[in-house]
Amino acid sequence: MPYELAGRNVLITGGSRGLGAAIALAFAAQGANVAINYQSNSGAAAAVLDRLKQEHPRVKAVALQADVGSMAQCATLVERAKNELGGLDVVVGNAGYTKFSKFGDLDALSEEDWDKCWAVNVKGKLALLRAALPTFNANPDGGVFLITGSVASVQQSGSSMAYSVTKAAQLHLMKCLAATQGDKVRVNAVLPGILLTDWGEMYPPEAIETMKEKSALKSVTDLQDCADAYVMLAKNTSITGAKIQVDAGLFVNSA
Ligand SMILES: NC(=O)c1ccc[n+]([C@@H]2O[C@H](COP(=O)([O-])OP(=O)(O)OC[C@H]3O[C@@H](n4cnc5c(N)ncnc54)[C@H](OP(=O)(O)O)[C@@H]3O)[C@@H](O)[C@H]2O)c1
Repeated sequence: MPYELAGRNVLITGGSRGLGAAIALAFAAQGANVAINYQSNSGAAAAVLDRLKQEHPRVKAVALQADVGSMAQCATLVERAKNELGGLDVVVGNAGYTKFSKFGDLDALSEEDWDKCWAVNVKGKLALLRAALPTFNANPDGGVFLITGSVASVQQSGSSMAYSVTKAAQLHLMKCLAATQGDKVRVNAVLPGILLTDWGEMYPPEAIETMKEKSALKSVTDLQDCADAYVMLAKNTSITGAKIQVDAGLFVNSA
């Protein structure tokens, strides 16, 4: 059963830079209205908003500040997105948190670092769906909740141990939500490999080269290919509780 995206209202957390901005542009290209969330860089949010308005003048686009590491701010963000766009059909919980550190060093991360990873990567996602669910249940066609995981969700590696552990927990949360929250919501995750965003560029060039060399396709993950996976999942009415790994074959065994 087709689920058209034209005219739908979409909230993307961390939608002002990197993958989130690419997702916002991909949904707008489908004719969807988009609310892009950011944490503090209002200049980057304004630049993406300008681009959305120039390239897709018919869609509504707004930028909303909120820290998705706060459950209360997640709830307010969902409410504001719904009010500003005039409804809410799709929420993309994309923003994440890590502190780049030596993976196996148990002293590298403070209790605060672990708590922040848990807050942004897990609790924030729960809060987004909890706030959106009544609207999804009231929508004639329901709603869609998509989460940005990582290959670190399924590997014992990545930018930090706290990141990998909480991205794994996030994946389990996604399955729990898909299994329990009824037939008016589809819940899925996209697991990117290395993306050359501001975040990905924090890896040393040698590490990026090693990941490229290790991947089956000898490349980093293409940002547009990754954004297109969210569009596909939003449209597909038969997939829920699933993860899609978009990693250029970096970890084929866990795909
Ligand atoms: N890059 C990679 O290689 C890679 C690989 C696998 C998975 N991922 C995942 O992809 C997602 C996006 O990463 P990215 O590479 O696109 O990052 P990015 O380029 O650093 O963009 C970060 C975006 O998230 C926003 N943000 C950060 N913390 C936030 C918070 N607490 N509340 C609200 N917004 C917040 C930023 O807003 P401001 O501009 O205001 O700070 C910005 O819009 C993350 O979940 C990450 O774990 C990335």
